[in-house]
Amino acid sequence: MTPDILDDYISAHIDPEPENLHRLYRSTCLTSTYPRMCTDHLQGRFIKMLTRMIRPSRVLELGTFTGYSALCFAEGMAADGEVVTIEVNDEMEDIIRESLANSDVGNKVRLIIGDAFDALKTVDGDFDVAFIDANKRDYVDYYRNVKPLIRRGGFIIADNTLWSGKVVEPDENADAQSRGIAAFNDFVAADSDVEKVILPFADGMTIVWVKEESL
Ligand SMILES: C[S@@+](CC[C@H](N)C(=O)[O-])C[C@H]1O[C@@H](n2cnc3c(N)ncnc32)[C@H](O)[C@@H]1O
Repeated sequence: MTPDILDDYISAHIDPEPENLHRLYRSTCLTSTYPRMCTDHLQGRFIKMLTRMIRPSRVLELGTFTGYSALCFAEGMAADGEVVTIEVNDEMEDIIRESLANSDVGNKVRLIIGDAFDALKTVDGDFDVAFIDANKRDYVDYYRNVKPLIRRGGFIIADNTLWSGKVVEPDENADAQSRGIAAFNDFVAADSDVEKVILPFADGMTIVWVKEESL
């Protein structure tokens, strides 16, 4: 059985992709130079389900792109929940604002256009969940900067942490993104203040739980 057939099978046996997200995914594929960056149907339903399980009030996202994953978090949250999402590329702003306007839950998403490192200095802490999905070279520094903003008992989720399997390549052959992700995986593995798993799903998703008691 080919992976495509399995993908179709999975899509037919999970919750359908909401119409607005289906249209957003299609238009991202048609208009973006790097459509693979967009969350897809399965990963989007997973993010929504995970959000339902965690029941966060506040989610912080680094890397909005066209807004797909931010809307999946918003879908899973209570009506008064808030997703703060940060995107450095100001050319995406109109597309993101249109995606939010086309969604019933877009009002829960607050967009910050700017560099994540600058924006993180301006947001108040006590987030329940952070989703790291911006520049792969900077994952370790994102983690260092985001962790103090997460409440004890909260979660950090990082996307693309297997990076098409390139994380296991020797350093001398690896590009900067692969090295960035590999360094992140090593850094998290060595952090005894958190529990962590890597899910070999999509392009690899790491889920980190910040222990209730600090060390
Ligand atoms: C993989 S895409 C995000 C995909 C989106 N989370 C989704 O799942 O649909 C990465 C995004 O991070 C943005 N980005 C890269 N470096 C950034 C930075 N330093 N601060 C904020 N955003 C950044 C890129 O412009 C790009 O839109």
